Amino acid sequence: MKSLRIVSVEHLQSGMELAQNILGEDGRVLLRERVILTDRFIALLKEKGLPFACIQDSETYDIQPEESIRPEIQQAVVQRLKAVYDRVAQDSSIQSLSKYHQLSGEISALYDLLLKDIEENDRLVLSLNSMFTNDAYLYKHSMNVTAYALVVGMAHGLTGSRLREFGIGTLLHDIGKTQVDKEVLNRPGKLTESERREIEKHTQMGYDLLLKIPGVSFPSAHCALEHHEKYDGTGYPLRLAGEDIHEFGRMLAVADVYDALASNRTYRKAFAPQDALQYLRENKGTHFDPAYVDSFMNHVNVYPNGMPVKLTYGLSGVIARMDPADVHRPVVLVLNEYGFKVRPYELELSKHYDVEILACDVNLFDFAPSGG
Ligand SMILES: [Fe+2]
Repeated sequence: MKSLRIVSVEHLQSGMELAQNILGEDGRVLLRERVILTDRFIALLKEKGLPFACIQDSETYDIQPEESIRPEIQQAVVQRLKAVYDRVAQDSSIQSLSKYHQLSGEISALYDLLLKDIEENDRLVLSLNSMFTNDAYLYKHSMNVTAYALVVGMAHGLTGSRLREFGIGTLLHDIGKTQVDKEVLNRPGKLTESERREIEKHTQMGYDLLLKIPGVSFPSAHCALEHHEKYDGTGYPLRLAGEDIHEFGRMLAVADVYDALASNRTYRKAFAPQDALQYLRENKGTHFDPAYVDSFMNHVNVYPNGMPVKLTYGLSGVIARMDPADVHRPVVLVLNEYGFKVRPYELELSKHYDVEILACDVNLFDFAPSGG
């Protein structure tokens, strides 16, 4: 039986079969599920900055993709968010924005789509960026951040119209980036002091834009203004600290940083999931409100099915599925012991506390998938 394995783009080979559609910037399908990769397709994926792809593998039997938000919903949200961002980028004059009555309705509809899928799952799991190319980053990021933030918000009792205000704000939290020079925004490498200041303006600019749009509430706009504030008062733009930061801003900061770290960017590779989590842990109480880091950890499953993993005792394999008994100790399908192939077997980490995950990373590749 075929099933899923996540393979970094560098390790893709012609003849492998895609297990998931790959989507471009506008949310349209670039390569379809079941396509057999050729050298030309692989070159295209590299050129588009795709970090990894999900392929069918006959060795990892019965590992199915797990995704809290259905791919077609992700596609629709990315497409429609891009349209909204493009509209604002095109004309952000007061005259234009004050007539943009459809925006709040459109964003509210996207919120409904996302919330429905999120509510149906016990724990949130997102496929990181495997489905989308790098040019879709801003929209995919806004969608992921919204999913993470809503989960944290719900854990802290947000419901009804308050949760909707939060969701609308999180979908639009980076809308100020439409006002920042694209070259500066996408520049790889270290930024100059003035470029950094230029990018930081997206918080205030986003807030100003959102307040001009009919139907966007004051708390929603606060998401744009305060998502880069830090709990210890060292963030921007207002250098607020502790509870002076709006609760929306404090929740959003956790979601925003996690997704940014877990994504491939032009200037660095994505953090492995456990390293991104470690970053949140280490910055509890300084960058982040500790309560929201704890909720994030309890409600988000950071190990996507099919992800390569290296364990203690010379074991390696792929994540088979989440174990509801312990969200951070998944079931692993072991494929190798000390670099030698073994007959695949499942190891429940929730029952083997002596076995640790040493690495979980698309770039781990000391065993070759057995192809399509
Ligand atoms: Fe931002």
